[in-house]
Amino acid sequence: MSDVNPILSGSAQSIAAYQDAIEQSTQAVVEWLKQPEMYQGKTVEQLRERINLNFTSQGLGNQAAIERAVEYFLKDSLLVHHAQCVAHLHCPSLVISQAAEVLINATNQSMDSWDQSPSATIIEIKLIEWLREQVGYAAGDAGVFTSGGTQSNLMGLMLARDAFFARQGHSIQQDGLTGDLSKIKVFCSESAHFSVQKNMALMGLGYRSVTQVKTDAFSRMDLADLKDKLAQAKANGEQVMAIVATAGTTDAGAIDPLADIAALAAEHQIWMHVDAAWGGALLLSEKYRDFLNGLELADSVTLDFHKQFFQTISCGAFLLKDARHYELMRYQAAYLNSDFDEEAGVPNLVSKSLQTTRRFDALKLWMGLEALGKKQYAEIIDNGVTLARDVAEFVKTQPHLELVMEPQLASVLFRFRPQSDDMAFVALLNQRIGDVLLASGSANVGVTEADGVTCLKLTLLNPTVCLEDVKVLLASVKATAEQLLKA
Ligand SMILES: Cc1ncc(COP(=O)(O)O)c(C=O)c1O
Repeated sequence: MSDVNPILSGSAQSIAAYQDAIEQSTQAVVEWLKQPEMYQGKTVEQLRERINLNFTSQGLGNQAAIERAVEYFLKDSLLVHHAQCVAHLHCPSLVISQAAEVLINATNQSMDSWDQSPSATIIEIKLIEWLREQVGYAAGDAGVFTSGGTQSNLMGLMLARDAFFARQGHSIQQDGLTGDLSKIKVFCSESAHFSVQKNMALMGLGYRSVTQVKTDAFSRMDLADLKDKLAQAKANGEQVMAIVATAGTTDAGAIDPLADIAALAAEHQIWMHVDAAWGGALLLSEKYRDFLNGLELADSVTLDFHKQFFQTISCGAFLLKDARHYELMRYQAAYLNSDFDEEAGVPNLVSKSLQTTRRFDALKLWMGLEALGKKQYAEIIDNGVTLARDVAEFVKTQPHLELVMEPQLASVLFRFRPQSDDMAFVALLNQRIGDVLLASGSANVGVTEADGVTCLKLTLLNPTVCLEDVKVLLASVKATAEQLLKA
């Protein structure tokens, strides 16, 4: 294999090939970044037709493979940094995060054992210690980086379930599920992320194990309903293994009353998990950190750095208040974390994770914190929250727009309101506005529901977006609506 060795190594030939491939890719990205359109506007059918794998006997070589990726992937990718790309909790990324990816990818460390990632393991542990401090947990290193919110929520729910059964003298890890499972419940609000349902199904307890607590006018968990439902569960002989509070619901950015929920959870001896996948960014805020008061009372916390921390996908973390609960998922694999290693004090991250082979995503956050510093990181996070408030004020001045709810984090929920009270018509019109804007390639606006009626959503994470950009977008919404109404 010496002539055409495709492996990254220290040989002069490999280093030259690496530099050529990276240079060619970087150049293509630079051109792509400058593209004015948010999206080239191709349909599903057009892309299916256009994109085909070319896996030949001899191979095309790096240069041609990159050229094809530029043509068939890059050109038709969505510009997430574009001012009109504001649909989802999908952030533009930090430049330093891109540099970190170069280091992460080239070194290809794997976090499942010390001997596959020595310095990376120490960096991840130190970052977990630091994150715990930000949350207000006691000093320690119970926690791990994850692929994102869904996996972190799964870890919280799984440990809550296993701790619940352990209190009754039963080991889920050893013996699996037991007893009348229809009586086991998890509580979360009606606005909690769907990964709660999906994870409960995955854990063998099904969607029906999820009791949805009503929300108030701001999509926050309603405490009175939580109390009622807890009392009702008790009366029905049901057992609540966890309450999942959300700090930053996906649409409204609502933060449940964390301290009050924690007090109820403690009173009923129920595990409290906080899904702070979005709102966790306020840990770095200068202006809004107090929104997260009570987070420190949770038994476990989900954080997601590929949302308002502006890291590239994937990058999330799970934090566990009491390290002893990690015993519930301990597994000793002789080839990774032997007794001998543990006695010698060799760090062991695989025991804290659902994954085995795992990327060193922690480096992105580490370098981001160092590069930006406290002030700049706080500014880019706070910017979105402040902008959402300004946009909401502007929406209120527009007679054809209806503000659905006052913003709480960096999102604005609104509708285009034609002169009609037929809400089915209003819902369809708003759905079509979102579809037409994306198909034209000019903007990506979120389409979701509030109180069962379709509405539009702006998720204003991007710190380079200003009120004037949003006004341009809202003008496009209006023009699109008028075209649709005419047709
Ligand atoms: C509140 C909340 N929790 C969890 C998730 C899932 O996170 P991920 O997509 O990183 O798995 C999301 C995704 O948007 C979310 O909004």
